[in-house]
Amino acid sequence: MKPFFITTAIDYTNAPPHIGHAYEKILADVLARYQRQRGREVFFLTGVDQHGQKVQQSAEREGIEPQEFADRISEKFLSLWKTLGISYDAWAATTAPVHKAAVQQILTDLKDRDWLYKATYSGHYSVRQEQFLTDKERGPDGEFGPEWGEVILLDEENWYFRLSKCSEWLAKFLETHPDFVTPDFRQTELKNAAAKITGDLCISRPKSRLSWGIELPFDPGFVTYVWFDALINYISFAGYGGEGTVARADFERRWPCDHHVIGKDILIPAHGVYWPCMLHAMGFADEQMPHLLVHGFWSLRGEKVSKSTGNVVDPAVLAETYGTTALRYYLMRDAVMGRDADFSEERLLLRHNTELGNSLGNLVNRTLSMTRRYREGSPKPKALPDDLIAHLAADAASVKAFVSQMDDAQIHAGIETMVDLVNRANALVDSSAPWKLAKDPEQADRLDAVLATLILSARTAATLLLPVAPEAAVEILRQINLPAIALTESDPGDVLPAGYQCGEPKPVFPRLEIPAGEVTP
Ligand code: MSP
Repeated sequence: MKPFFITTAIDYTNAPPHIGHAYEKILADVLARYQRQRGREVFFLTGVDQHGQKVQQSAEREGIEPQEFADRISEKFLSLWKTLGISYDAWAATTAPVHKAAVQQILTDLKDRDWLYKATYSGHYSVRQEQFLTDKERGPDGEFGPEWGEVILLDEENWYFRLSKCSEWLAKFLETHPDFVTPDFRQTELKNAAAKITGDLCISRPKSRLSWGIELPFDPGFVTYVWFDALINYISFAGYGGEGTVARADFERRWPCDHHVIGKDILIPAHGVYWPCMLHAMGFADEQMPHLLVHGFWSLRGEKVSKSTGNVVDPAVLAETYGTTALRYYLMRDAVMGRDADFSEERLLLRHNTELGNSLGNLVNRTLSMTRRYREGSPKPKALPDDLIAHLAADAASVKAFVSQMDDAQIHAGIETMVDLVNRANALVDSSAPWKLAKDPEQADRLDAVLATLILSARTAATLLLPVAPEAAVEILRQINLPAIALTESDPGDVLPAGYQCGEPKPVFPRLEIPAGEVTP
């Protein structure tokens, strides 16, 4: 079977990581872990975007080489992904030789097939956004707004990609492939925007203006425009450039990508227009186009998370203060897939302390303590009574719902399914009151059956928590002393293995409090 191929945007190395970057990588990691749990081979690619004007400028400001600057920031990403448990299989750093070779090979091939041409363009140019501006970018007052930063008049020779040659193809492709972008409303947005895009795409920068990029193999006075370079990472690090090699065979097996996980800001035009048109020009068939999974943006107290306004939340500090489990759980729980969310430490603590601590943690703790106290860790149920069979059937239905939600990348919904399952199990503890059953010898069979049912429910809950909070889920399963259920089976089963003995309960979700002095600025 084809490996499940999942990628994220590659992060700019002009500034350190913030909460938005962490969210996207955790999201992709959860989906990757989920697919592995389903028994799928996974190829999870993420990395860093190291070229471009912003990196060159930041390096100049610090008086160091752009490579050194990009490497320094890349280290911060690498270290954060380690802390957050991001289980990527391959690392895309765009200064790597394998990537450079692939970009140059693609450029040469496109030029040979007349997809590229050289021309002179005169116009307004935004230094900050690294792009030429047209009248469409002017505000109602006729001026270019502050979002474009410094705007200069530029007269420049450059290389162009015949994007306009693809416009009919793209319109038809978007019409006939409604699942190219998830969520649906983003595909609608893309369709509308794509219809308005005219002209070709400038894919080079003269070295006199920008030297920090991949040189055009057929015109050494130019480097490749950073987006044309960056988008190619999705194939160059998957083996595309290694024609006739094992790497290329791997690429043929992996491609197309099942999820390009990206934020809403880079759908139009980069991933929604440029990228499919580039692939189309390279000769990829319609069926070989990737799937784009577009997530929303995190804000901080309603404001854009941005370096310039100083409200950056450092995910490494959050992970150190509250732990990786709480941070991963909160980000996945509070953002509805595709929608924006607002970051708050209060909510992070609330989600952790209530749903993980009070609900799941308490369920595991009570279940194991009672099993040890009343049955020396080893309940021996006879045939289960109807109400407990119904309870486990509801758990099996939850697993099915979870699988369908996670297949649709609705992680928040999958977590909600887990929370509902935990609440049902806690309700069973309260309604069946094992402490009362333990006092009545006539209820001995019922007590065994209830404890066994609770252990099985707790195991299912931990299984569903695995992709989101792997460390905590593994610890729960260790205490329960059972392996996770296989998500490939439709029914988790209703019996404990022969000779089952539970482990010792230890708190998995210690209560969190906001430390004196704030973590977020
Ligand atoms: N380098 C380009 C992507 C090239 S992909 C071939 C880029 N880098 S970025 O560092 O600015 O953004 C990386 C990812 O983080 C993007 O998918 C972007 O949407 C996402 N986010 C940036 N800020 C974000 C939030 N505030 N919230 C959620 N995601 C955010 O774009």
